Amino acid sequence: MKAKWWQTAVVYQIYPRSFQDSNGDGIGDLQGIITRLDYLENLGISAIWLSPVYQSPNDDNGYDISDYQNIMTEFGTMEDMDELIKQAEKRNIKIIMDLVVNHTSDEHQWFIESRKGKDNPYRDYYIWRDPVNGRKPNDLRSIFSGSAWEFDEESGQYYLHLFSKKQPDLNWENESVRQEVWDMMNFWLEKGVGGFRMDVIDLIGKIPDQEITGNGPKLHEYLQEMNEKTFGNYDVLTVGETWGATPEIAKLYSNPKRKELSMVFQFEHIGLDQQEGKDKWDTKPLSVNELKKVLSKWQTSLGNEGWNSLFWNNHDLPRIVSRWGNDTTYHKESAKMFAILLHLMKGTPYIYQGEEIGMTNCKITDISEVNDIESINMYKERLAQGYSKEEIIDSINKKGRDNARTPMQWDNSENAGFTTGTPWLRVNPNYKEINVTANLADANSIFYCYKQLIQLRKDNPIIVWGDYVLVEEVPEQVFMYLRKFEGETWAVVANFGDQAVAIQLPEFGQSTRILIANYPRSSVEFSQLELKPYEAFAVKL
Ligand code: GLC
Ligand code: CA
Repeated sequence: MKAKWWQTAVVYQIYPRSFQDSNGDGIGDLQGIITRLDYLENLGISAIWLSPVYQSPNDDNGYDISDYQNIMTEFGTMEDMDELIKQAEKRNIKIIMDLVVNHTSDEHQWFIESRKGKDNPYRDYYIWRDPVNGRKPNDLRSIFSGSAWEFDEESGQYYLHLFSKKQPDLNWENESVRQEVWDMMNFWLEKGVGGFRMDVIDLIGKIPDQEITGNGPKLHEYLQEMNEKTFGNYDVLTVGETWGATPEIAKLYSNPKRKELSMVFQFEHIGLDQQEGKDKWDTKPLSVNELKKVLSKWQTSLGNEGWNSLFWNNHDLPRIVSRWGNDTTYHKESAKMFAILLHLMKGTPYIYQGEEIGMTNCKITDISEVNDIESINMYKERLAQGYSKEEIIDSINKKGRDNARTPMQWDNSENAGFTTGTPWLRVNPNYKEINVTANLADANSIFYCYKQLIQLRKDNPIIVWGDYVLVEEVPEQVFMYLRKFEGETWAVVANFGDQAVAIQLPEFGQSTRILIANYPRSSVEFSQLELKPYEAFAVKL
């Protein structure tokens, strides 16, 4: 089978604001990224997904765009962007742009016009509705708390915002809106970008009047039109952020025959520590059995009719090593365990900045330390509902998005080498131990485990194409699966527990062909296998 480049690639996500500051203003920028490309080349990644770098008032840190064809002043200029694309290309790294087109900023020219009145030609670029019985049109809620409808005094109508008030939703039913988006995408494609990550793309087919938001009836029609009008003739990676996707829905997006996207981000595993029917803030302990069930389902159900992505982290999620691993006694072991387990599955792995050195969540004690609009809005809402401060802060420490957004930890100098100025968000105090320099100096570091995994994928088609089989005859805390390809079988074993555990699987025999491991190990005897806390390895049978 001839692979597409994105089927063998590993993608690295950069949150530019927190990656590397080059001019001492405390905010990461494009020149900063350029200075770190050699580091990323050393890691071995094939593409960078760049969180938004466009002009933005930063109500939601760049996910509220006021000009899609200009660079955010704090991040640099279009010349810097061109240089980044070119410098990355020299190292065989493609730049994937974040495409945020469910909404714009309220400071986008289109919305400024739209707001001017019912007769403005841009009025219909957004979703405006009359009041119903003097109230908001319906009960749609914003993902960032409160109603999704904001009243505009001047025109006496409400506009829809599924995120913050400063992120009005575009009206995708309007052909001119779609044409503007296609033109903008073509502008970036002509610059030579390697593709798009599509922000909350499952929402563009919404029917607000019926309170339908995700997976609306015209969603796939729009995506087919997008493919045809923009990237269809380019060899690029496209990935949709699709919160409610099931395997069947994922096939609609990513079956190559349908000419939509390369792959989706599915979030089913990410929601497993959330209480049924409650918010992301209402957590429960992870069941490893559930995780096995969900990940295995996604491994086996797409077949040749779709493509998976693989991830634990992004800029919206807490750090996996703190969330489901152990960020103290078994920091290194558990970080590597998550890497080994995920990177040997089928699909395209994504690494979020800092994951490859085991960066952890960063605790706060007061809301004044928080930058993220989602956490701040939730804090206000829950306080009003009678939750205690302690409870709310605890849930922010567990799930808040700032956990992933603290500055990248490069070295043990002041501010972790991220900036010479005052960082826009505090640096995690553990940077003295957890940083890139320390990782590069230690042959057994988390960094080298990721590097080795990326190389294994490049060298072994079994990782890209092999069949996946879950091994069920193991204790709950052990996640074990096989990959099988052209007569070869690999076994991947991961202990999720902070206790040693024994497994007995005599039918798998014995092997000395260890491919990767997070403890020193030269052989495996499956009839009598003792796993150390968070131990993980892969072995050729
Ligand atoms: C996506 C982004 C998130 C953003 C939201 C609104 O979920 O990943 O960071 O706040 O969309 O654009
Ligand atoms: Ca800067």
